[in-house]
Amino acid sequence: MILVTGGAGFIGSNFVLDWLGQCDEPVLNIDALTYAGNLANLASLQDDARHVFVHGDITDRALLDRLLAEHRPRAIVHFAAESHVDRSIHGPGAFMKTNVDGTFTLLEAARGFWHTLGQADKAAFRFLHVSTDEVYGSLAPGAPAFTEDHPYEPNSPYSASKAASDHLVRAWHHTYGLPVLTTNCSNNYGPYHFPEKLIPLMIVNALAGKPLPVYGDGQQIRDWLYVRDHCSAIRTVLARGRLGQTYNVGGWNEMANLDIVRTVCGLLDELRPDPAGPYSRLITFVADRPGHDRRYAIDARRIERELGWRPAETFATGIRKTVQWYLDHADWVAQVQSGAYREWVATNYAAR
Ligand code: NAD
Ligand code: DAU
Repeated sequence: MILVTGGAGFIGSNFVLDWLGQCDEPVLNIDALTYAGNLANLASLQDDARHVFVHGDITDRALLDRLLAEHRPRAIVHFAAESHVDRSIHGPGAFMKTNVDGTFTLLEAARGFWHTLGQADKAAFRFLHVSTDEVYGSLAPGAPAFTEDHPYEPNSPYSASKAASDHLVRAWHHTYGLPVLTTNCSNNYGPYHFPEKLIPLMIVNALAGKPLPVYGDGQQIRDWLYVRDHCSAIRTVLARGRLGQTYNVGGWNEMANLDIVRTVCGLLDELRPDPAGPYSRLITFVADRPGHDRRYAIDARRIERELGWRPAETFATGIRKTVQWYLDHADWVAQVQSGAYREWVATNYAAR
């Protein structure tokens, strides 16, 4: 079996669903069920013996040791993290605890377990660390996209914590020989995306007739990848990635935030027209994010050249599926908009 951390979150749950949709190898899923973790994402696996869910924290070494000894996974795919830049600005502590200390604890537990394996299992074992393009910092307009050799220049508490975790993973390979792989991916979007992030926030606010808050001038650029393409990239790297290597993963799709929001509005105008007028009337420019990175762009040629991976979706096909998914899953949206969600919206947007 494989062990997945953070498998009740956005990308992790898509990965678990995808994995079990493609093969019968069981998944042990450890997730602390923070505000971002949601077992409803995995409801279709409720009676599926291939999915073993453990409500637990990756900073709990004793729990990790016990689970590894009991289930003896052949690989760990590490998604668990605090993932939202704006939350890291309001409260960086949780990011240091989970992203830095949690990754350290998981690496140590993995190292201890790995040493107990026989030679063949030891050679086959993999620790895949799921990271982000934000560790590379911000690009000037027209500068070449991030390659894997770009210097680390993280600018937010979130990206600094992810950069720290990447360095730990690298060091555990270099020093102890732990068979690690790291992926650095751009912005994902798709089903089960928590509506604190740009695309789902715009969809749920538009449908509720609420303002669509665009930070600053809306000309910040991100590269966008449909989440199932990220899942297929991780499967590919896990199967064939070179040990100790890092792989950038991206959609070859740079877009300015304002264009993303306008695209979402246009699709909603088509699929769920509002008698009050086009959804773009709700676009509202608000105070910028402190330290806001201006541009990310991913050069994903290494994973294509070495492993033959390319995204299957274009932005046009992926965003249409995504908007349709949110229209079809009003119950999921209502469930995640709990009191805690409303508190976050007040914290982040009231004073903007
Ligand atoms: P998410 O916030 O939606 O989910 C994170 C999951 O981790 C949640 O289920 C949460 O309950 C769990 N978790 C948090 N702290 C934990 C702890 N201490 N112990 C166990 N579980 C814990 O995040 P996501 O968007 O799915 O991102 C997953 C990973 O991918 C992260 O490592 C993130 O840095 C990385 N990543 C995300 C994106 C993106 O666009 N979302 C892009 C590139 C990389
Ligand atoms: O690049 C990969 C990263 O992408 C991941 O590592 C992070 O986990 C993930 O959250 C995402 O980070 P971003 O900060 O790019 O995503 P977010 O959806 O929060 O914001 C995308 C852009 O939209 C960013 O430039 C800020 C802007 N934005 C965001 C929100 C929530 C707005 O203009 N208004 C908003 O209300």
